Amino acid sequence: MCGIGACLSLLNDNVAPKIVKMLMNLEYRGYDSAGIAVIDSLGKIHVKKGVGRIHNLAETLRFNEMEGHIGIGHTRWATHGSVTDYNAHPHIDCGNNIAVVHNGIIENYTDIRERLISLGHEFKTQTDTEVIPHLVEEKYKEKKSILESLREALTELRGAYALVLITSHEPDKIFFARFFSPLVIGISNNDIYIASDIPAFLQWTRRVIILQDGDYGFVSADKIYIRNLYDPAVKGREIITVEWTKEMAAKGGYRHYMLKEIHEQPESVKRTVRMASKQIGDVINLIEKANYIYFVAAGTSYYASVHGQYAFAKYGIRSRAVIASEFLEEVGAFLDKDDLIIGVSQSGETADTLKAIRFAKKKGSKILAITNVVGSAITRLADRSIIMGAGPEIGVAATKTFTSQVATLDYIALNWARTHGFDVDLLISKLLNIDKDMEWVLEVNEEKAIKLSEVLKEKNNAYYLGRGLGLSIALEGALKMKEIAYIHAEAYPAGESKHGPIALVTEGFPIFSVVLRDETYHRMHIAIEEMSSRGGFIISVTEKNDSDTIKLSDFNFCAPDNYSNILAPLVYVIPLQLVAYYTAVKRGLNPDRPRNLAKSVTVE
Ligand code: G6P
Repeated sequence: MCGIGACLSLLNDNVAPKIVKMLMNLEYRGYDSAGIAVIDSLGKIHVKKGVGRIHNLAETLRFNEMEGHIGIGHTRWATHGSVTDYNAHPHIDCGNNIAVVHNGIIENYTDIRERLISLGHEFKTQTDTEVIPHLVEEKYKEKKSILESLREALTELRGAYALVLITSHEPDKIFFARFFSPLVIGISNNDIYIASDIPAFLQWTRRVIILQDGDYGFVSADKIYIRNLYDPAVKGREIITVEWTKEMAAKGGYRHYMLKEIHEQPESVKRTVRMASKQIGDVINLIEKANYIYFVAAGTSYYASVHGQYAFAKYGIRSRAVIASEFLEEVGAFLDKDDLIIGVSQSGETADTLKAIRFAKKKGSKILAITNVVGSAITRLADRSIIMGAGPEIGVAATKTFTSQVATLDYIALNWARTHGFDVDLLISKLLNIDKDMEWVLEVNEEKAIKLSEVLKEKNNAYYLGRGLGLSIALEGALKMKEIAYIHAEAYPAGESKHGPIALVTEGFPIFSVVLRDETYHRMHIAIEEMSSRGGFIISVTEKNDSDTIKLSDFNFCAPDNYSNILAPLVYVIPLQLVAYYTAVKRGLNPDRPRNLAKSVTVE
């Protein structure tokens, strides 16, 4: 989704260079166009915006030369209105006195727009956002207070928004509001920042206010004023210090964030398990009491949830992973107060996931959230939350948050199993010390991934097959290849591949096969034979001593022995992440910025 970055300098410095940096840090949220507005010393608003990536625009439009110690910026992922210079944010009112950037969707914008046009307002774009500065402008005619005008305007907006606003009427402030779309304030000794996400300003401060739904207000040099549209008791919000460091959000010598994040996994999973052990508390009890358990999630988090379902099944816990956007229709009718919903979301802000959770909450179901972001929307809806220790993930394609989600779900499953008499001590200790094995997998498979990417870069299709605990690995592997290398990659439960997919297999068709040495082993071999006898190019991921599978393969990635259990995704997925990454690079693509994708999708 779009990224918002705003800055007020307490030292009267020009803020445009900092806003540019914030927008670069936020590009994973959207990057089809960008723009900045500042207020100069005479209180006049200046706007520059255009189509393209922020670093190019910074040069061509000379963002850094903009003068003003208060400003707002935006990097866009288009929803309403095509990608044009005009539709880029910021948007301004008729009088050029109010500039706004916005993330979210104003659902009733056409009604508001028509009303404002009939009152004489002139619109320059097709965006939903443009109604906001005009609506505030209209209210201001009477109220003569921007705060009051904004508050009233907000009560008319339906949909989702995070927005910041500057105005020549009150040139010493940045106004803000949040409803459903994320917005945070950062405070350092030199500046105050407002952004969609903490990594935007992590290099300058770790002191943060997480705004909540309905919050609105302003920041000025001497004040942070926060009120809530729905709760008159709110007179401000607590400042918290986040544990993420600026190094965690930097590239650290790697060519891309994605590669860095793949390599961080031994450490991030270890940290996540340590954090899970401190937070597990009554979670086992929640599972025990639940009549039925539903996982709800989107994208990679859904695949982690598929793993959760299989891992829970191993120990007799009945659960079902449901895609968030299908949740209402698929299981909505069955929910009740005895059910437990496990919401899995890296960002904690995915609109589809939040909608499903709100629905379940209304039905009285209990909510457990698993997320990477402290204070995110999902944590506020949930009865219980487990925060993962993956650290900020900047690459659009999820990698280290997938393994952290799997590790958290495994930790829960194993603790449940232990309290129910299963002998899982060995697996628990393996999980606690998994970093060494993950490092080994990285070391052994990276060169192989580079080699294979030479072959794959010429391909247009690939299948990823897995069974049982191997299925979520295949699903996630295919998603990575699709997302960043733009190769049509489809994952199938291996047994299902003969019911259709096999029709496409001809000489050299890549077939990734995730083979675990468990009860699915021989049936995986049958699927491999079926594919290979039609010319399929078999790329297996196996335990390192699995010579029988290696013999059936044209290419092999290996995992350590004794991982054919619920810990499998933690090691098996790594070669699949690496090969997707290197294939994208070989195809001349930027894996951190896949086209049309946004890291956090805050619209339905
Ligand atoms: C987007 C991202 C995916 C992510 C999904 C769910 O589609 O591009 O990488 O898996 O949203 O995000 P969440 O923050 O809920 O895990």
